Formats: sequence, C-alpha cells, structure tokens
Amino acid sequence: MHIKSLTVGLVFVAAACGGGGEQAAQQEPAGEAPEAAAPAAGPTANAGEQVYGTTCQVCHQPDGTGMEGQWPALAGSAVVSGDPEIPIRIVLRGMSGEMTRNGVTYNGVMTPWGSQLSDEDVANVLTYVRSSWGNSAAEVTAEQVAAVRTAVDTHPDPFTTDELGIK
Ligand code: HEC
Repeated sequence: MHIKSLTVGLVFVAAACGGGGEQAAQQEPAGEAPEAAAPAAGPTANAGEQVYGTTCQVCHQPDGTGMEGQWPALAGSAVVSGDPEIPIRIVLRGMSGEMTRNGVTYNGVMTPWGSQLSDEDVANVLTYVRSSWGNSAAEVTAEQVAAVRTAVDTHPDPFTTDELGIK
C-alpha cells in the first residue's frame, strides 16, 4: 500500500514536471497522506501509549519500571491493577505521602493531570498501563473517569497515600 502510494506520488511529480502546475498543487496533500496513516495498534491501546509517552514516561519510564526510591514502578503495581478508582484519582489530582513498594520507601509528589487530560485520555492511558509490561487488568472507560472527576471536585489537592489507603 505504501509503495503503491509512493508510485502514484512519483507519477504526480512527473505530471507536474510536464507543466501542470495547478495539478501539482492539488495533489500534494495526497502524497503526504500515507505518512500520517501509519499507526497499527488498536485505537484505545495506541491512544493510551501516546498519552503515556508525552505525560507519564518521563518519570515512570518507557518500560513502566520507574526509578527506585524516586518514581514507583507501574509494572507489577497492585495499585495500578486494583480498583480503577484509585489510579484515576491519582492521575486526576496527583498524589503525595510516604509509601513502600517492593521494600523501597517512596515519599515524592506526583503532579496532577486532571486539567490537561480529557476523560478519554485518562481512560486510554490507564487502559494502556493496566495492560502493559505484564499487567493484565481490565480496561478503564471514559465514563468511569467522568464519575471520579465529579467525585474529586471537592478535593483539589493531591491525594495522600493515607487518604487513598495505599501506604
Ligand atoms: C513528575 C513525575 C511523575 C509523572 C510525570 C507521573 N508520575 Fe505517577 N508518580 C510519581 C511519584 C513521585 C509517585 C509516588 C508519590 C509518592 O511517593 O507518594 C507516583 C505514583 C503513581 C502511581 C501509584 C503507584 C503505586 O504503586 O502506588 C500511579 C498509578 C501513577 N503514579 C500513575 C501515573 C500515570 C498514569 C502518569 C501519567 C498520566 C503519571 N503517573 C505521571 C511521579 C510521576
């Protein structure tokens, strides 16, 4: 398909060289289309991976293993794969407070993402995180995120590990 489009593009270029200036202007967008149509994964997983790449991986790392003592691993995390309400709260409002994972103490602050990510973005990124790197928890829907977003209206600050019961 890609090669075919390229061939067609070359024919267009050849036609343009033959003097059809107006024709070339019309056909330029068609020549660029194959590059934009590349992604191959399912829509939800793919969209979630993109959100993860731009929003989460700087701390939690591309493979979800985090950084010992600084950013907890999302791979193998019971919080990630447990009741989806908890990770939804964490992404919308951020979190802080001491906690222990795999014998390592964390006491950092995660920035909130509620104002930058839509319900779909949060659903997609958590679906991606819950089904990657060996995790295999159920998908998260935009409806679930919308319900939690309403519930956390009265809690603008990051959640503490105490409040979430995830020390
Ligand atoms: C600026 C760095 C940073 C970014 C970006 C970030 N996090 Fe975090 N995240 C943290 C830190 C730090 C903690 C632990 C906070 C603590 O010690 O209380 C954490 C904790 C978590 C936890 C709880 C894990 C557990 O085992 O309890 C989840 C889930 C999580 N983050 C998901 C995400 C997702 C999803 C994104 C992207 C939307 C994201 N984080 C973006 C730093 C970050």
